Amino acid sequence: MHLYIVTGSSRGLGAALARQLAQPDHTVIGIARQPNPALDAEQWALDLADPLPAAERLQAWLRAHTGWHGATLINNAALLSDPGPLAGSDLAGLSAAMRVGLEAPALLSRVFLAETTDVPTRRILNISSGLGRRAMAGSAAYCAVKAGLDHLSRALALEEPGVGIVSLAPGVIDTDMQVQLRGADPGRFPEQTRFQGLKDGGQLQTAEATAAAIVRFMLRPDFGKTIVADIREA
Ligand SMILES: NC(=O)c1ccc[n+]([C@@H]2O[C@H](COP(=O)([O-])OP(=O)(O)OC[C@H]3O[C@@H](n4cnc5c(N)ncnc54)[C@H](OP(=O)(O)O)[C@@H]3O)[C@@H](O)[C@H]2O)c1
Repeated sequence: MHLYIVTGSSRGLGAALARQLAQPDHTVIGIARQPNPALDAEQWALDLADPLPAAERLQAWLRAHTGWHGATLINNAALLSDPGPLAGSDLAGLSAAMRVGLEAPALLSRVFLAETTDVPTRRILNISSGLGRRAMAGSAAYCAVKAGLDHLSRALALEEPGVGIVSLAPGVIDTDMQVQLRGADPGRFPEQTRFQGLKDGGQLQTAEATAAAIVRFMLRPDFGKTIVADIREA
């Protein structure tokens, strides 16, 4: 039995990943604030903006459930603070974006790594973004979160040579996150028109197609060889 822990399983890419991974020989745990009624898996309603109790819950659960043939943590959940200059951002929204996007993956990874040492095959997949590698005005916290995930992954890979660790940019996906970017005020967020153009030009991938490509990528024997990767080039 392979254990998959998927954060952000209620919508978008995480919902598609959790759905596709929910197979008879897999145990899937989905984590999000809202339940996903279409997901036939164990779901934990947790706010990852408060990551310590979430990590402690995962720690207790992993201690009580052992004997896995494989285990994979997918840190997918993220949230955008209101697109616009950092100086004008809502403080609470900024704090939540940093905690969900970076603190939670670090704490969940810490627990996952410590509690699965006897599992033969282990992977951590961090869902990053091209914006971790290219700076964009109006999205400084998000850029920092994703650059942080990339570098967290590089450092963890040095510490854990036996674990497949990848920070993956998933491409541009037709989810609520894109709705938020297109709905931003162009006066505060200059790239609003570019995101609108991607939608109008039919350049967004579906969450299902992206999830299918990611699942194929995850199952490749060379998973972890390239730590900072992009699904469009994989
Ligand atoms: N969409 C794109 O074009 C794109 C491009 C590059 C990278 N990405 C990355 O891909 C991943 C998935 O993005 P998406 O587009 O699928 O986003 P989305 O549709 O906005 O979904 C975000 C998911 O994160 C969860 N989440 C947000 N805040 C949370 C919190 N406080 N506690 C627990 N869960 C929380 C949401 O669940 P609840 O609201 O129920 O809590 C939801 O399931 C993210 O890491 C994103 O940065 C997306």
